[in-house]
Amino acid sequence: MTGLHGTVEAAVAALRNGRLIGMPTETVYGLGADARNAAAVARIFSVKGRPPNHPLIVHIASADQLDSWAGNISDDAHTLAHSLWPGPLTLILERHPDVPGAISGGRPTIGLRIPNHLVALEILTQFGGGVAAPSANRFGKVSPTTAQHVASEFSVPEEIAVLVDGGPCHIGVESTIVDASTPTISILRHGNISGHTISELISRDVIDGTHGEARASGMLAAHYQPDALVHLTFTFDERDQIVDALHPASVYVIPAFESVEQYARGLYHHLRQADALRVAHIVAVAPPPADGLANAIRDRLYKAAHR
Ligand code: TXA
Ligand code: MG
Repeated sequence: MTGLHGTVEAAVAALRNGRLIGMPTETVYGLGADARNAAAVARIFSVKGRPPNHPLIVHIASADQLDSWAGNISDDAHTLAHSLWPGPLTLILERHPDVPGAISGGRPTIGLRIPNHLVALEILTQFGGGVAAPSANRFGKVSPTTAQHVASEFSVPEEIAVLVDGGPCHIGVESTIVDASTPTISILRHGNISGHTISELISRDVIDGTHGEARASGMLAAHYQPDALVHLTFTFDERDQIVDALHPASVYVIPAFESVEQYARGLYHHLRQADALRVAHIVAVAPPPADGLANAIRDRLYKAAHR
């Protein structure tokens, strides 16, 4: 495996040349391109194999840049941006008329976030513009939480010009997506930032929009899918029964977790590890439902298990 050692400077130069980079964030690794370069953005869709109507998140270095990407930003949106950025929060806002619609699959909105990762912030600050970046995996597959994951899926430098290794992602599941483009605030994807936190900050209720129409690619029923068949269970007894009924050599059991934080951090590693071992089955226990990270893990497991 080669190409893991791209520098920040090389990544910034690649962005300026319209090429793709692999970029660490605190959630998962991103496949980044200059968000103002239409050809570079098109290349994200082709390399990832992503349908063109699935919108991308634009990553920025500072909330001062908000006005060049979004318009009519509500007080609630400002409050969330200023309280939670840099951090695992993507805000859906009204797209600025100067921003090409291809970024957001033709929608009138745009997803924006400031990642809380030193390397990502260094790349974004030196680059100065917005970096469009979906998770750095092929469409529908498991998101990457290490640079090795990215390098095992894409060729460097053919597909990804520069891959910057920023170590394992601290959170391990994708950002919470909050739609702040309408007067009612809703959560479109669960992540580390809970609905409770958002509702406290804006002093009113937040709608759970995660079961609505498939507006976001991460909301499709089948997503985050390893090659092995995922069996989702809800108790350790149930897990053991399923494991007993399967051929032991072809089963990968996701180990018991000490905390939801630890579970989230290791989840995609385990799904990928199972495929690397070429097992036929993965057995996982869902954490009990709870706002925030536990629901994020449950959501990813349901989608991984959907057939
Ligand atoms: O944590 C993350 O958000 C990671 C890191 C790399 O920042 N990125 C990520 O990107 O998960 P991606 O493309 O794999 O997922 C982005 C999700 C998709 O479900 C997409 O549909 C949704 O965000 N999204 C982006 N822009 C949107 C918009 N304007 N309206 C509704 N959903 C949007
Ligand atoms: Mg993704």
